[in-house]
Amino acid sequence: MSRWVLAYDGYDPETEGLREALCTLGNGCFATRGAGPESTADGVHYPGTYIAGCYDRLPAEIGGRRTDNADLVNMPNWLPLTFRADDGEWFDADAAHREDRLLSYRQELDLRRGVLTRLVRVRDRAGRTFRLAQRRIVSMDDPHLAALETTIVAEDWSGPLRIRSALDGRVVNAGVERYRNLPGDHLTRAEPTSQGGPEPLLLRASTVSSQIRIAMAARTRTTVPAHRTDVADRGWAGQDLAVDVQENAPVTVEKVVAVFTSRDRAVEECGEAALAAVTGAGGFDALLGAHTLAWTRLWRRCQLSVDQVEVQRVLNLHIFHLLQTVSEHSVDLDVGVPARGLHGEAYRGHVFWDELFILPFLTLRFPEIARALLMYRWRRLPAARRAAAAAGHRGAMYPWQSAADGREETQRVHLNPRSGRWLPDHTHLQRHVGLAIAHNVWRFYEATGDAEFLAEYGAEIMLEVARFFADLADYDRSTDRYRIRGVMGPDEYHDALPGRDTPGLDDNAYTNVLAVWVIRRALDALALLPEDRRTELSERLALTREEITRFEDVAAKTHVPFHDGVISQFDGYADLEEFDWDRYRERYGDIRRLDRILEAEGETPNRYKASKQADVLMLFYVLSPDELDDVLRHLGYDHGPALAARTIAYYLPRTCDGSTLSSLVHAWILAHTDGDEAWEIFLDTLRSDLTDAQHGTTPEGVHLGAMAGTVDLVQRCYAGISTHGGTLHLAPRLPPAVGELRLGLRYRGHWGIDLTCRQDLIRVALRPGAASPIHITYGAEDIEIQPGTSWQSPLRDGRPAAGGRLTETDLGPGRTERPG
Ligand code: BGC
Repeated sequence: MSRWVLAYDGYDPETEGLREALCTLGNGCFATRGAGPESTADGVHYPGTYIAGCYDRLPAEIGGRRTDNADLVNMPNWLPLTFRADDGEWFDADAAHREDRLLSYRQELDLRRGVLTRLVRVRDRAGRTFRLAQRRIVSMDDPHLAALETTIVAEDWSGPLRIRSALDGRVVNAGVERYRNLPGDHLTRAEPTSQGGPEPLLLRASTVSSQIRIAMAARTRTTVPAHRTDVADRGWAGQDLAVDVQENAPVTVEKVVAVFTSRDRAVEECGEAALAAVTGAGGFDALLGAHTLAWTRLWRRCQLSVDQVEVQRVLNLHIFHLLQTVSEHSVDLDVGVPARGLHGEAYRGHVFWDELFILPFLTLRFPEIARALLMYRWRRLPAARRAAAAAGHRGAMYPWQSAADGREETQRVHLNPRSGRWLPDHTHLQRHVGLAIAHNVWRFYEATGDAEFLAEYGAEIMLEVARFFADLADYDRSTDRYRIRGVMGPDEYHDALPGRDTPGLDDNAYTNVLAVWVIRRALDALALLPEDRRTELSERLALTREEITRFEDVAAKTHVPFHDGVISQFDGYADLEEFDWDRYRERYGDIRRLDRILEAEGETPNRYKASKQADVLMLFYVLSPDELDDVLRHLGYDHGPALAARTIAYYLPRTCDGSTLSSLVHAWILAHTDGDEAWEIFLDTLRSDLTDAQHGTTPEGVHLGAMAGTVDLVQRCYAGISTHGGTLHLAPRLPPAVGELRLGLRYRGHWGIDLTCRQDLIRVALRPGAASPIHITYGAEDIEIQPGTSWQSPLRDGRPAAGGRLTETDLGPGRTERPG
């Protein structure tokens, strides 16, 4: 098995949606699902194309309520390409499959080069055999280009062959079954401008309310002379090419497509831009060459390897999809990272808190992309300030779901497909999203040392989020504590106390603890700024001494609930009933969507100690043990490893991993204590998209948080890397199943840090030519590594061994320790 190939043998309509999502090709600007070029949205296939940041809003009536609904728009489909013998039927894999005429079918995604290949043998109804080889790319070199190369061989006949190539703008958003009764018609359909003859096809469209103009141009060429006829219709630009084929003589059709929108830079009119780009573009091989080179460069910056081929393959798949969603090409686009990638329409392409799981990998490899994602948030500070003000608060209240302009996009009702009922949705009360954003800013600063970013943008985000939480906190005189009321934690199964009419919970421990941490870090950030910048920012934000005193007071006196010697998920959690896990598992098997099961039974998870996902346990993921202890100590609460162990043991069996993020967090936490169980959970998380473990969710879009999170887990948890206080800390915890782990990292502007971790050894090398030494902390040791040298220390069973001998080795001129 190759570490670089995702291959499917045979055609299976049942799992086609999953293949399409996993075989999506993209470049950070746009992405196209891996649907066959001849297919249309028909319940089996869903050929979606999504352009980063292109949302459109339509009024809707949902569950009897008038509302509006912003979608990441399904753009015109650039793929359509099919063929037939002149008097035969158009190629259709499904019909051929049903009628036993599909002789062979293989699909392969080459992760290293970003190429999707399909090899098909098919017989038409008249008994003529065709062999088809198709290659597809969405260029990582030129973010506006895509190309499809199709080679057709008539195996046992000669005669006229007709090829149809088109751009289809008659698409709608209909990729997710439970949203289908929402309006999805986001594109206006213009008559295509006929270029005539061999000129490229051009299709223009525009989104309905956001009025983004989109243009696609396609140039189709054949290796044999072709007679062309334009086939145009409203919203559809097509060309039929008639060629003569000889038995066993291949004919190649090459379709090169350019995609532009009015959001693009350096463009006057996107139709003209698309025509110019497609006219000037090279042929498939030239485009493939440049595209492969671009991917080679990306992979060089993503060095991360474990000595387990299958694990490595899935890690590569995850990195691949992450970089197809956000890349160097998206840096200038002012886009956030949609939780489900540009791979489908789940969650309508909205941006949640999932970047919390995504940024750490990017920060240590592509800090410029991480920074751009933080800038997406900074630019939406005005919207977050308005939201806070509308709720009667100071500071910035970031939306739980965000899209184009940063307003709250969370739906207010959602459908339980099990009961068919529309239910109130209170998930917008997850105010902790703002804490995640402020936390990400600080972590970015710690890892990159980018003081300019902190001074210009980051500190402002942190202070405005801190200000919102300091204002949201209510002082309770009777206990001399601050309380944060009426919010939801990450666990979406609890949105109110049983029997209470008002939605929201009080004192969600994750929110309260992280709020305190963020408030303190925001003050640290302010203190770090040069005096003139500090004064200027304080004046601009009208931050007074009095308000800072309030910050300090909230940070010292916020309430954290406890029960039975563990941190309580929220105030009142202790009184909830225990849930009968065994009975429900026996009855339903998969109970990850317990909320839907219970609601269909006329019940609610609010009654039970049963969580959808890590909530209190998020604290052990987001904060280091020292940081968590520090917050709890500062608040005057019990802390330390015994509390952590009890709290972890308490919540693990009370959580059903209804979100892929949850098992990721559990694998992370357990890696510190139970290597074997942690490894099994890690493997499950790793496979969750590949196998569509949640039964039907991956076809609607990949779970990018879990994808990036698994890769990050290997680097930050197994290799034990953390970045704070200006040094790189190492505390490896290699699972017994991994013999060797290798990473190439970027840290505070240093390229060329190579880390090798084996069960018996850890080694860090700084490549020759690095501008300055790096500082690492290992246990109680502070070590400086000079360029061209390496440092190593023995490990015992993948963990630091007492009395490890430190050695420094000269790598010698030109020698490097690159991970393989
Ligand atoms: C999870 C959220 C997550 C969202 C998008 C939900 O199912 O509960 O935590 O942000 O999916 O991935």
